[in-house]
Amino acid sequence: MAHKIRQASTFDLPEIIALENEAFGARGTAESSAVIESRLKVFPEGCLVVESNGKTIGYASSEKWSQEYEPLLDIDPFARHAKNGHMFCISSFAIRLTHRGKGFGLFLLDHLIEIARHHSCAAMILSTVQAQEFYSKRGFQITASLLKPNSNIALTVMKLDLK
Ligand SMILES: CC(C)(COP(=O)(O)OP(=O)(O)OC[C@H]1O[C@@H](n2cnc3c(N)ncnc32)[C@H](O)[C@@H]1OP(=O)(O)O)[C@@H](O)C(=O)NCCC(=O)NCCS
Repeated sequence: MAHKIRQASTFDLPEIIALENEAFGARGTAESSAVIESRLKVFPEGCLVVESNGKTIGYASSEKWSQEYEPLLDIDPFARHAKNGHMFCISSFAIRLTHRGKGFGLFLLDHLIEIARHHSCAAMILSTVQAQEFYSKRGFQITASLLKPNSNIALTVMKLDLK
């Protein structure tokens, strides 16, 4: 099967928003289209899509921080991203339902880890509702637990030390 990872652009927005809603909508953790669009502008090198046979089947977004913040949802990336930041935050990450369990997730995560290393980041951070075991496959460790504001949705914070 032909698959590849490439940098996302604003042309990918409709597919990315559909993926975001499919992955997170039912759980109440889908983020706003405006924030997703901003991420593509703020740090395009850290926004990737996975294509399989010409179709977009996954995506990830990220930003670099100059200090550690709580990785909450819907935070304006223009306020957080720092060109020379050393903390690499994975802000969103999803694989299409039809394509899960085939290794695409780890394929994409490995690319993000490479980008973080390329940018000399010291650590990676993210929050997740239910993918803790997935991230632990690459050595991410649980460091905290948060509640999404104004909800009872628990977010697990995970970090990977790159030093
Ligand atoms: C988490 C997610 C990205 C994984 O993608 P995927 O393509 O299915 O993952 P892979 O096929 O590469 O799986 C790699 C390994 O992680 C495991 N894994 C994948 N998703 C998992 C999950 N949600 N919980 C626990 N383990 C998981 C797989 O069983 C596999 O293990 P194995 O190598 O021992 O067989 C995908 O399930 C998804 O999009 N979920 C909804 C959105 C989400 O939770 N995103 C992450 C939080 S930001």
